[in-house]
Amino acid sequence: MPPMKRRDFIRTTALTGTAVLAGTWSAGAGSAVPAPQSGAGRPILITSANGAAAAEKTMQMISGGSDALDAIISGVNIVEDDPNDTSVGYGGLPNEEGVVELDAAVMHGPSYRGGAVAAIRNIRNPSKVARMVMERTDHVLIVGEGALKFAKAHGFPEENLLTDRARAEWLKWKENLSTTDDWLPPHSIDDDGIGEIYQNYLRHYGTIHMSALDANGNLSCATTTSGLSYKIPGRVGDSPIIGAGLYCDNEVGSAGSTGRGEANLLNCSSVMVVEWMRQGKSPEEACLLACKRINERQREKRLQDEQGRFKPNVKFYAINRKGEYGAAAVRGGWNYLIHDGNSVKKLEGAYLFK
Ligand code: GLY
Repeated sequence: MPPMKRRDFIRTTALTGTAVLAGTWSAGAGSAVPAPQSGAGRPILITSANGAAAAEKTMQMISGGSDALDAIISGVNIVEDDPNDTSVGYGGLPNEEGVVELDAAVMHGPSYRGGAVAAIRNIRNPSKVARMVMERTDHVLIVGEGALKFAKAHGFPEENLLTDRARAEWLKWKENLSTTDDWLPPHSIDDDGIGEIYQNYLRHYGTIHMSALDANGNLSCATTTSGLSYKIPGRVGDSPIIGAGLYCDNEVGSAGSTGRGEANLLNCSSVMVVEWMRQGKSPEEACLLACKRINERQREKRLQDEQGRFKPNVKFYAINRKGEYGAAAVRGGWNYLIHDGNSVKKLEGAYLFK
């Protein structure tokens, strides 16, 4: 049979319409309480702590028979639309010039496809554009101006994503950045708490990741973010990089990350988590191995604590094909969410260091 030409294709479709880990890690809920054995047909999802509303929406759709990726995108869109989440989508904190730039990627397990956009401006739902890249191009990743043009070509409305709240946060950061520039916060002649010595404005990485297993036993995932706040324009984190900020193999499991993206870019962490699950590690063990790998492969003093350990936090979330789940972070004292079809549950994550 000769290969189908594009025009014929369009016509046809139109017609048919246990850890062996050194270190001081602690088990989180995923191992302290045995993960439920969902088995075939029992959906489950895992997401970051900012994903409660997204988890409800996603599970509602999955329970109604939706494909995992359709449901995940509808779920994370809620967070992208939320002006009060300053780490994702509309209302996300901007780059150093006060412009919001978003990164997102999706992976669809059953079709083994993925799509992503990076440093896209003026479009509030980058996860939807990432999906469009997957479905309507021969590419996987489109960035910057090209991503914006692609989104507009597909009818996504352009809008200013910088909310007053995010602009005020950005101004606060800019005004306290340095004593050698001309930007200063409101102050009196007696106020010495400004500029270089007043560095209390934490920058953050934010992000939402979600991995889900649907009622047909298929896996998918998405990661979407405004990235590191006040970043250099054009900086791309791990979230839109398949293998770094997320990875899904329908035969094995799905994983993703939030936190310092540079560590995942250097360690290809999410694909490693899935590969460790393929080798038989539980989701939590695999997530802990990713934390361990980051810590063992870092050498820069500026990123180390007094004991030479990796200082920034990086968090991992994973589920396997059987519906087992687990999560771990480099630093402890954190939570993640699962939805097992009954309700959203907030669980304590495992960690490498307190
Ligand atoms: N993990 C989000 C970022 O680094 O941009």
